Amino acid sequence: MSITKDFFGKTAAGTAVERFTITNQNNMRVSLITYGASIQRIFVPDKTGTLRDVTVGFDDLEGFENRSDYQGAIAGPYANRISEGAFVIDGTTYPLVKNEDGVKTLHSGGEYTHTVWQGKESGDNAVTFSYTRPDGLNGYPGAIAAEITYTLTEGNELVLSYRCVSDKKTYINPTNHTYFNLGGFDSGDILSHKLTIHASRFTPVNEASIPSGELREVAGTPFDFRQQKPIGQDIEHPCEQLQNTGGYDHNFCIDGWNKQLREAAVAVCEETGISLVVSTDLPGIQFYAGNFLKGIIGKSGLPMNRRCGFCLETQYYPDTPHQPSFPSCLFDAGEEYRSQTVFAFRF
Ligand code: BGC
Repeated sequence: MSITKDFFGKTAAGTAVERFTITNQNNMRVSLITYGASIQRIFVPDKTGTLRDVTVGFDDLEGFENRSDYQGAIAGPYANRISEGAFVIDGTTYPLVKNEDGVKTLHSGGEYTHTVWQGKESGDNAVTFSYTRPDGLNGYPGAIAAEITYTLTEGNELVLSYRCVSDKKTYINPTNHTYFNLGGFDSGDILSHKLTIHASRFTPVNEASIPSGELREVAGTPFDFRQQKPIGQDIEHPCEQLQNTGGYDHNFCIDGWNKQLREAAVAVCEETGISLVVSTDLPGIQFYAGNFLKGIIGKSGLPMNRRCGFCLETQYYPDTPHQPSFPSCLFDAGEEYRSQTVFAFRF
């Protein structure tokens, strides 16, 4: 195991951004940058031993700053959508930034994503990023002290450990928004990847991608990934849910959620022999098939075309502040939010 550190770039505002690269004995190599506490690349050996970067994103800081659709980044403090541009806690209404269609909030307006975090190595295989937000930024309550530790193991697991504490009662729901392509970032679309999601139910959404509150059975729908199937098999099915979002972009309710780490999803690329197993102690996972990507220039100057990467974002369900029946992610002042997500690679 080893960690190296280099200079990744300077933001437009002049802040230096560092990159940490952790390498294990099996030649897996993960680079993390302080901008957005982001995963910048993950090299995994394919079945011929050739290293493939299985994350779609950017080679340079300018991409993360100006062209990002959350590639590799932490989204938060509340990932995914909050409707109505506001929420209420104990009778107080908090108006939020409305960065989507001028009416709702997506990924907290990019707050965590576009922040330069403090980065620090711990030992020879982990990096911790920390950031304390000011109370009230973008209307969002709580000076939340957040810490995200990425640990690479000799078992080829990248472990993401989150710890947040607020000085005020607030919603806490960060995620990592890496776009994976297990064929390599430059290998085209992800439609032939085979996916399993251990979820019997998902949260259907309206045309604005806001959940109705229903937990719908996947059985008999294109959302049934309980047996592995190619991502592309049913993605063009003309059902209302896939029309609403232009392809998979839904929260799945992980079966048997009990706040312990459990396997949630498995993606397999047969061409390279690389698989990804996602485990989490959170109740939901957003499977987003990269439907909105439309050619922004990414690594090696290549365009990130529609569905060239997929995200498996572990989370509390979207719009939980407006859905009292969803598992709660409202934390008291001083109450610790802790969660873990593991991206385990098999090759
Ligand atoms: C959302 C998508 C969105 C993407 C990038 C995902 O978490 O569900 O609708 O396009 O993030 O912003």
